[in-house]
Amino acid sequence: METLSDQIERALEQIGSAASLETLDGLRVSLLGKTGLVTEQLKQLGKLPADERKVQGERVNRAKERLQSAIATRKLALEEAVFDKRLAEERIDITLPGRNRDLGSIHPVTRALDRIVEIFSNLGYSQAEGPEIEDDYHNFEALNFPPHHPARAMHDTFYVTPDQSGAARLLRTHTSPVQIRAMAGRQPPIRIIAAGKVYRSDSDQTHTPMFHQVEGLLVDETSSFADLKGTLAEFVRAFFERDFEMRFRPSYFPFTEPSAEVDIRWDKDDGSERWLEVLGCGMVHPNVLRNCGIDAEKYTGFAFGLGVERFAMLRYGVTDLREFFENDVRFLRQFG
Ligand code: FA5
Ligand code: MG
Repeated sequence: METLSDQIERALEQIGSAASLETLDGLRVSLLGKTGLVTEQLKQLGKLPADERKVQGERVNRAKERLQSAIATRKLALEEAVFDKRLAEERIDITLPGRNRDLGSIHPVTRALDRIVEIFSNLGYSQAEGPEIEDDYHNFEALNFPPHHPARAMHDTFYVTPDQSGAARLLRTHTSPVQIRAMAGRQPPIRIIAAGKVYRSDSDQTHTPMFHQVEGLLVDETSSFADLKGTLAEFVRAFFERDFEMRFRPSYFPFTEPSAEVDIRWDKDDGSERWLEVLGCGMVHPNVLRNCGIDAEKYTGFAFGLGVERFAMLRYGVTDLREFFENDVRFLRQFG
C-alpha cells in the first residue's frame, strides 16, 4: 500500500505541474478540503495511542504545510501566466501609423477669417463685438444715414419683427454698427477690429445673402488717409503672401469722408482683365464721431470693412462665392 509520504510526494508533483487554476483548485480540495487526504489523516489521529499520535500529528501537519506552500507558489505562477497571456493578446502596436478618421476640415471662410484677425492683431488691433440682430440706430442712423436717405437702399436689408416698443429690428447689413458700439462711452485712442456675419438680400457669383465682414476702426489725434492706405496695403501683402495688383477707387459711404473702395485684379481664364471689389473704407465722418460723443475737432479716424469671402475667393482661387455655402464635401475637402 502507498504510504502517506508517497502520496504527499505524488500530490506535490501534481501541484507543480497543474496546468490551470481550475486543476490546482481541484487538487487543493482533494488534499486539504473537508474530506481531503490531509483532513482525513488528521481525523484519524484521535484513534492513535498518545505517543504515536504526537509523532504522526507532526508528520501530517508538516505535510499539510508543504502542500499549502506548494499550492500558493503554483497559484502565483499560474496567475502570472494568465496575466501575461492577456497582455500579449491585448498588445497594441504603437509603431503602426494612426488611422486617419475623416472628421472634416476647417472651412475656407473660417481659415480666411482667422488669418485676417491674426494679421490685425499683430498690428495692435483688439477685438470688438456686436449683435447680429441690430436696431436702426446702430446700423444706419448713428452712421449718418438720415431717415429715407437713398443710401439705405444700397443695403438690401432683411427686417425682422419689431421689438415690444415697435422699433424696427433688422439683420445687420454690415459690421459698421460695431464702430458705434466701440466708440460710445469711450474716448480715443481706439483701435479695434470686429469680425462677424452680415446679411443682405443679394445673390450672384460674388454675392450671398449671408457673408462675413471684418470691420476696422482707428481713432486718434493724427491719423490720415495715408495711414489708412498704408495699413490696407500692408494687410493685403500679409494676407496673400504674393503680389496682387490693388487699386483705391473713390466711392461714397455716409459714415466716411472721403471714402474709397479697394479692388483687386483678378484675371479671367480667357486672360481678360477683371477687378474684384474686396472692401470699403474712408476717414470717419465728423458726424459719426459727434454721435458717439467724441470731439471731431480734436480727433480723426479711419475705418474699413472687408468682405471675407472675397478675400477667400482670391486666396484659394474660387470663382463662385456661393460655393462656400453649398457644403459640397468634394469642394470642402480641397481645403483639408
Ligand atoms: C460696407 O458694408 C461698409 N460698411 C464698408 C465700410 C466700412 C466703408 C467702414 C467705410 C468704412 P460694402 O457694401 O461695399 O461696404 O461692403 C463691403 C464689402 O463686403 C464689399 O467690398 C465686398 O467685399 C463685401 N460684400 C458686400 N456684399 C456682399 C455679398 N452680398 N456677398 C459677399 N460679400 C459682399
Ligand atoms: Mg461696396
